[in-house]
Amino acid sequence: MSDETRPSRTAAVIPAAGRGVRLGPGAPKALRALNGTPMLIHAVRAMAASRSVSLVVVVAPPDEASSAEVKTLLADHALPERTDFVVVPGGESRQESVKLGLDALPPGIDVVLVHDAARPLVPVDTVDAVIEAVREGAPAVVPALPLADTVKQVEESRADGGPELVVATPERARLRAVQTPQGFDRGTLVRAHETVTDNVTDDASMVEQLGEPVVVVPGHEEAFKVTRPLDLVLAEAVLARRRANDGF
Ligand code: CTP
Ligand code: MG
Repeated sequence: MSDETRPSRTAAVIPAAGRGVRLGPGAPKALRALNGTPMLIHAVRAMAASRSVSLVVVVAPPDEASSAEVKTLLADHALPERTDFVVVPGGESRQESVKLGLDALPPGIDVVLVHDAARPLVPVDTVDAVIEAVREGAPAVVPALPLADTVKQVEESRADGGPELVVATPERARLRAVQTPQGFDRGTLVRAHETVTDNVTDDASMVEQLGEPVVVVPGHEEAFKVTRPLDLVLAEAVLARRRANDGF
């Protein structure tokens, strides 16, 4: 096929190597269950639900037992036949884990999604909207929502432990809470990971540092990140609501 007619191929990298310190003691966060199914499996299903995603790379906690457990979980849960799955060990930081996932991508993939295992419930429509925006030419795409809370910027943390001083209140209407999957032109994301060494909390900010445009598509309230114990309660409530709605 010529370049013009070759369809773009999309892979999803799922960083799942974090411990989940804020969730409290227990198994690595991605391996904890939501309504009996590990969070990671929910996240993998959310990516594989998109017909555009032909490969899912899971970045597992780096210890051998967890990597083995992830492989067993993928083998034991029903997943779409049309999707390939690869498991690689992760790193010390999220950024490092994503890089290790990118290193595992085969040739022929030109669109890459990066999706937190900790966002197990993102709807497929959000995934597809991100992919479509990349295919239409954006080098980087983030799903995002307006904020409910007003945000204050505070001074750098003080040594004396005194109350923090507020230094600014950014205009809330122009702020967005950013979710995943974030979508990228593969070459742009790889370049960002090779170039940017600062500590960052998402992949799109690395592309911003390259000076490339990053665009926003609507996020979804069900794409929230499971971070603290109360988020587990919310996630299980969302699953219960889906089950009830499926009954009609
Ligand atoms: N992650 C990763 N490798 C790391 C750290 C984080 O792959 N070294 C992944 C997590 O597994 C998660 C995603 O990055 O899916 C988002 O990170 P976060 O929500 O912070 O998860 P944890 O780092 O596991 O949680 P905590 O910060 O509370 O320890
Ligand atoms: Mg973390």
